[in-house]
Amino acid sequence: MSRVDYPPRLELARAPTPLQYLARASEKWGAGKRLWIKRDDLTGSALTGNKIRKLEFIGAYALEHGYQTLVTCGGVQSNHCRATALVAAQLGLDCHLVLRADGEPEAVTGNFLLDQLAGASHEIWPASDWGRHLKETFSRLEASFDAAGRPALMIPTGGSDSLGVWGYIRAAEELGADLKHHEIETAALVMATGSAGTQTGLTAGVAIFGLPLHVIGYAVCDDAAWFNQRVASDWQASLTRWSQLPDIDLVPTTRDHSVGPGYGRADAAVYQLIAELTRLEGIPLDPVYTGKAFQGLITDIEQGFFDDVDDIVFVHTGGVFGLFSHARALEQTVQNLR
Ligand SMILES: Cc1ncc(COP(=O)(O)O)c(C=O)c1O
Repeated sequence: MSRVDYPPRLELARAPTPLQYLARASEKWGAGKRLWIKRDDLTGSALTGNKIRKLEFIGAYALEHGYQTLVTCGGVQSNHCRATALVAAQLGLDCHLVLRADGEPEAVTGNFLLDQLAGASHEIWPASDWGRHLKETFSRLEASFDAAGRPALMIPTGGSDSLGVWGYIRAAEELGADLKHHEIETAALVMATGSAGTQTGLTAGVAIFGLPLHVIGYAVCDDAAWFNQRVASDWQASLTRWSQLPDIDLVPTTRDHSVGPGYGRADAAVYQLIAELTRLEGIPLDPVYTGKAFQGLITDIEQGFFDDVDDIVFVHTGGVFGLFSHARALEQTVQNLR
């Protein structure tokens, strides 16, 4: 296994996270395969999920370069925004969030509540305008934090850029040790993909460390072509920025049949799966990312997509606070299961 010269990193995540065998879920859904879960939902308590691994590198960069504010963006229930707000508080930095809303008045719950507890300021844009205005909003904020003497590091959606990518390159190295420890010879490595940073890091890390894993992202928005292209372009940007990265051609794999009604919305099958897995293994997934990815995985197992592997590792990327804004639908699901 080759060593990689990582950029500076803060220790924010409780890692290594456990790789856990799911005995009952394997029996129910595995069709003879062993299902494993990489517990990146256990990287912390409030500061939990995949974003923390990216923020270890982003936070170190911010401190090293004298930034005093972290600015980022996402949906009102963004896990990434919540994680950034908490990291900023932990590092003594300010935080401002550029949030996207769907039109309904936003309940102060889940991630949005934690953002506010952490002292982050925010502005909310209607979903129809948010994307179009993001670039100019970021420029305006950057200038105004500069003028106020609190220079801001502008962090893109999901922390997915050539800095955040290191988080899951490093996680891939960790997975290499997990495979050895559990004597797993070869496996599929699957996860939700939203802004492609986790998928890019893992696809790159698996190639860099020569791991016997086939990385498969399950899209929660857009489609497979979009993600494959995004992984390729983010990897190119990473190669341009970091001379220590080996110039490997990445061949990403994305599945897009479990996007459902669109980003942030889930259908009854996803809610039901979340309840079933929680009852079976005591592990809640979320309706926006991990629930959809797990549903895509199960459909693919049923349809023979994984017939050539004995082991499947599902990366639980966190998102538990996203459950609370779906409480009504989940309550209905639970009642129907009784
Ligand atoms: C819980 C959870 N899982 C998966 C993802 C997807 O990660 P990425 O944005 O790196 O594709 C996110 C990103 O927002 C997330 O919050």
